[in-house]
Amino acid sequence: MQIKDHVFIVTGASSGIGLSTVTALCTRGAKVALLARSTEVLEELSEGLPGTLPITADMTDFEGVRQAVRAIYQHYGRIDGLINNAGRSYAAAIEEIDPAVFDEIFHLNVLGPIVAMQAVIPIMREQGAGSIVNVNSGTAFMTIPQYSVYSSSKRALLGFSLTARAELEKDGIIVSEVYPSITATNFGKNRMGNPADGGPAANYADGDKPEFVADLILQAIEEGHAQYFANNRLQQLAGVSTLQSFVSENSQLYQQLFDEMMKRFHLEAKATAQKADVSEVMLSRFRRGKADLGASKLIALLLAIPAEARMWYLSELFGVSPGHSLRSLIAQAPPEEQAEALRVIADVFANHSRETVDQ
Ligand SMILES: NC(=O)c1ccc[n+]([C@@H]2O[C@H](COP(=O)([O-])OP(=O)(O)OC[C@H]3O[C@@H](n4cnc5c(N)ncnc54)[C@H](OP(=O)(O)O)[C@@H]3O)[C@@H](O)[C@H]2O)c1
Repeated sequence: MQIKDHVFIVTGASSGIGLSTVTALCTRGAKVALLARSTEVLEELSEGLPGTLPITADMTDFEGVRQAVRAIYQHYGRIDGLINNAGRSYAAAIEEIDPAVFDEIFHLNVLGPIVAMQAVIPIMREQGAGSIVNVNSGTAFMTIPQYSVYSSSKRALLGFSLTARAELEKDGIIVSEVYPSITATNFGKNRMGNPADGGPAANYADGDKPEFVADLILQAIEEGHAQYFANNRLQQLAGVSTLQSFVSENSQLYQQLFDEMMKRFHLEAKATAQKADVSEVMLSRFRRGKADLGASKLIALLLAIPAEARMWYLSELFGVSPGHSLRSLIAQAPPEEQAEALRVIADVFANHSRETVDQ
């Protein structure tokens, strides 16, 4: 998306990466709404940056976020981009996690960005285009003692961002993520939690400059790829999510492939199942007297048929397509049978994987 003359919201605009992003956007001729809690800092900043709008809002106050977006839309008459950047970390060992702080971190790092997305999506859809950039973290791919809450919040943000990307592509709304590494901002100082040993150490002063991350954010707005990494190491760590980003980069193609795969799977499984003569008989018996068939018989039935056909039979029994997850398969069963269905299916798959391992 073009930057010049377009309207952007930057959350966490009062400091660090957000502040650098605001400056970079303004230099490129954008109009920028500056959102954070520190009213005075924002007002002072805005005075030096023509075309900006200071908006005080706490990202953990969802109604406040919605009101802020309404005020920004009223002021500019359009919203082209949202940079979900506000965020904080929390250091605490698993046994010390304070549920109230967990809540605050997830409100700020996950739900706040979602609520902000929800507020801008209808506006962007109406305009036929939009850019959403969520600022994630390399810790989304790392296991760092005492950083479970922070890294989990960013893992959650990763999931929401890639899914939003796949969902919104058809509306011309592009969702991207930027993964900073250690960056020289107030982030370390603003960390919550106070472990006795000082918590995970990082030398923020020697980290990347916030201007470097701001450039990645602008690149994301202009190019619109799924993920941008501060360095190669993060990209390698993100290996697993490379497939996810392929999927979200090519969601339509992937959907077609998936549908085709499922169709073939279904046909092949059906053909294989037909060869196992016992199964059809047992299946029709099962359909007639579902309630009479105990867990052990269902397991016997499923084990009696070829492994490739089991999912097909489960889908026949529960009346859904083979592409459904086990959870939704189980949800299709009558409520009184769900617990049993869960146990039975878990058993079948446990047996199936044991067989596979034994081979
Ligand atoms: N620095 C790093 O090493 C690093 C590494 C990876 C990822 N990140 C990510 O980069 C993003 C920006 O962090 P930063 O390094 O620029 O840190 P920072 O200098 O501490 O800036 C954080 C910004 O978030 C705002 N903020 C905090 N709580 C808020 C709330 N409840 N509502 C609204 N705004 C709030 C702060 O403004 P107010 O206090 O005025 O509200 C501030 O503008 C975060 O999402 C962080 O997770 C940073």
